[in-house]
Amino acid sequence: MKILTIIGARPQIIKAAALSRAISKKFVGKIEEKILHTGQHYDDNMSEIFFREMGIPTPHFNLNIGSGHHGKQTAKMIEGIEQILINEPFDAVVLYGDTNSTMSGAVAAAKLNVPIVHIEAGLRSFNMAMPEEQNRIVCDSLSTLLFAPTDTALQNLKNEGFMNSNVRFSNGKDRKVFHSGDIMYDNSLFFAEIAESKTNILQKYQLENQSFILTTIHRDNNTDSPHRMTQIIEAILEISKRYKIVLPLHPRTKKLLPQNISKDNYKALTENPNIIIIPPVSFFEIIVLEKNAKLIMTDSGGLQKEAYFFKKPCLILRPETEWVEIVQQKAGVITDANKENILSSFEKFIDSQTTFPNIFGDGHTAEFILNKMLDLTIQ
Ligand code: UD1
Repeated sequence: MKILTIIGARPQIIKAAALSRAISKKFVGKIEEKILHTGQHYDDNMSEIFFREMGIPTPHFNLNIGSGHHGKQTAKMIEGIEQILINEPFDAVVLYGDTNSTMSGAVAAAKLNVPIVHIEAGLRSFNMAMPEEQNRIVCDSLSTLLFAPTDTALQNLKNEGFMNSNVRFSNGKDRKVFHSGDIMYDNSLFFAEIAESKTNILQKYQLENQSFILTTIHRDNNTDSPHRMTQIIEAILEISKRYKIVLPLHPRTKKLLPQNISKDNYKALTENPNIIIIPPVSFFEIIVLEKNAKLIMTDSGGLQKEAYFFKKPCLILRPETEWVEIVQQKAGVITDANKENILSSFEKFIDSQTTFPNIFGDGHTAEFILNKMLDLTIQ
């Protein structure tokens, strides 16, 4: 079976590593993988570093699309992906998550009747204003094989009629939906073992175990809103009076922060000895930061889950989450971008004794997915 894996944004590069690793360990001779990078993320520390660190093969194709308005960005991606699929036959296209690269891959493949495998299917925020929500719904709708990472994601697909749909694809195949577990969990387990010996990030920033709060902000509805950014930053300033804050800054946030918060807040943030603002970090570095943080505050989906994997409480800086299990387990709380909520939840969660039952699979999700993909071509 010959597959084309399409990646573009930082978390997809990381997720794809788990599948590539499983192919090279257990599916040699059965599955041949080629990788297409759309170039959505292009800075070295948003892209290249993950290939080097996680030993991912260099992409066979790189579209070098870069940033832009979503319509233009996706249009360029669809055009580039389509050409590659016309030039070379593939048995399936593998897509991850909900980025513009995901949706573009889905549209290009569907138009050419190439079966689509969607990993991380069924997630919903029910907030149609999010580009990610639009992207994941389009991708789910066009996919042949859907792999839901959690019970809730599976239930969402059931509710939307994905299980008993009459949809038929050009090759006569039905749609199939599986509860697979989370491929990110495979990676976190695998790399948690080795990450600590591969980075000195704690020494570099003089961080001690359990002494700091890890924070990331990159969602456009936070970064693009002066009000929301101000609420989050003022909460961070307050918390920094008691704890060190480590803030790896996404390029979007770095660009928009000075425009969207007051001069005084910007100065207080950037000249505060207790707030360590650093460039985006590698996967090994983020794992080590997560493992050693006392609490995590984030608007990232990936970090919410990794907080859970490493048994850390998490404040979710969004109005909703797709990872509702984390909130149900009381391991995380939705604070939105509301200063008072953030501060009161911080007090409640900072010393909480939460339990973290295993809800993200058994760490062998990649293998499960690959076996089901093989079934797709044999049946
Ligand atoms: C994208 C995904 C989001 C994912 C996130 C992970 C979409 C709609 N969103 O958001 O789901 O969680 O990636 O990081 O696909 N930029 C750089 N260098 C880079 C990449 C981006 O400077 O290497 C800057 C550019 O100013 C760009 C902005 O960041 O305009 C946004 O990048 P983009 O890829 O559009 O979306 P993300 O916010 O990263």
